[in-house]
Amino acid sequence: MSEPILRVDDLVVEYASDGYAVRPLDGFSMQAEAGQLVGLLGPSGSGKTTLLSVLSGMVPATSGSVTVQGIDVLGLSGQELQDYRRSRIGIVFQGFNLIPSLTARENVAAPLLVAGQTRSAALARADQLLDEVGMDDRANHRPSKLSGGQQQRVAVARGLVADPPLLLADEPTANLDLISAESVVSLLRRLRESGRTIIISTHDNRLLPVIDQIVEMTPVADDAEVETGQRERTLEPGEVLFRQGDASDYIYEIEEGSIDVVRELVDGTEEHLATLVAGNYVGELGPLLGFPRSATVRAADRAKLLAVTVQEFKLEGLNRATDHARP
Ligand SMILES: Nc1ncnc2c1ncn2[C@@H]1O[C@H](COP(=O)(O)OP(=O)(O)OP(=O)(O)O)[C@@H](O)[C@H]1O
Ligand SMILES: [Mg+2]
Repeated sequence: MSEPILRVDDLVVEYASDGYAVRPLDGFSMQAEAGQLVGLLGPSGSGKTTLLSVLSGMVPATSGSVTVQGIDVLGLSGQELQDYRRSRIGIVFQGFNLIPSLTARENVAAPLLVAGQTRSAALARADQLLDEVGMDDRANHRPSKLSGGQQQRVAVARGLVADPPLLLADEPTANLDLISAESVVSLLRRLRESGRTIIISTHDNRLLPVIDQIVEMTPVADDAEVETGQRERTLEPGEVLFRQGDASDYIYEIEEGSIDVVRELVDGTEEHLATLVAGNYVGELGPLLGFPRSATVRAADRAKLLAVTVQEFKLEGLNRATDHARP
């Protein structure tokens, strides 16, 4: 198999949010081959936009590595970073970001004009791309005169203007009606056939049939593990059950002992949120809402816990204490 065009290894991105450390990506890895359409799937907050921002060199990573065509992206700065962004990647932002006062062809040509190309060369290239995305007949329309799907196709054309090997698109079909979404999907499918690698984030199930590789941003619980009797967890004092920022899987019922719920702060210290004893549940919010863990949980003294799936938790009914901190 050929060398992947993109490799992400053990990527960690940490944000500071109100003094709390949020880690949407924590040990994330993936690869993409030339000509693949890769879909980043996951609920809101699972780090899709964050990953695309790191790949495009706009957000720094805390640790890990990102390699695009052999280039160590996280090590780039200054002119090298600018060159990377200009020649290796194309970006299609959420919400199109077209300039309202410019026509479609001027919008597509804009990055080349900024890069110093002549107006006639830039417009000729824009016309070629608008043709490629099926928008040649509307080249002289301003964005306000185009439908959502048409605007999105212009945005894709602009992302491709420097002929990058890697196209990054954040929710390319969000807010589009069925017909517009279909035109964008068939465009992406055609672009992939030309050998480009396309990475999109999406909640949109309509895209699933054309995606070559699905990357789950929030790993789901492995049911097989549950079947084979891993439901009971015994923790020694101080042992960690899960860490803030981890992907959420199970909800835990405390059967014996007690556990501490703490929040990790950006300065490396932690805030004690609660101590929970037998009879309580812990960790229900993350799995229920599809969020990563918002706090770290560890045993205060020797504790015995039972792992429960979201479905079981819901079935188990409403008569339980819920007045405690729930990461
Ligand atoms: N600049 C920032 N500062 C602090 N926290 C941030 C920042 N950007 C994102 N986050 C947090 O990081 C997490 C991941 O956000 P991200 O935007 O990557 O998610 P997403 O998967 O793209 O979500 P959506 O589907 O809603 O677009 C969220 O918890 C978010 O609040
Ligand atoms: Mg997003």
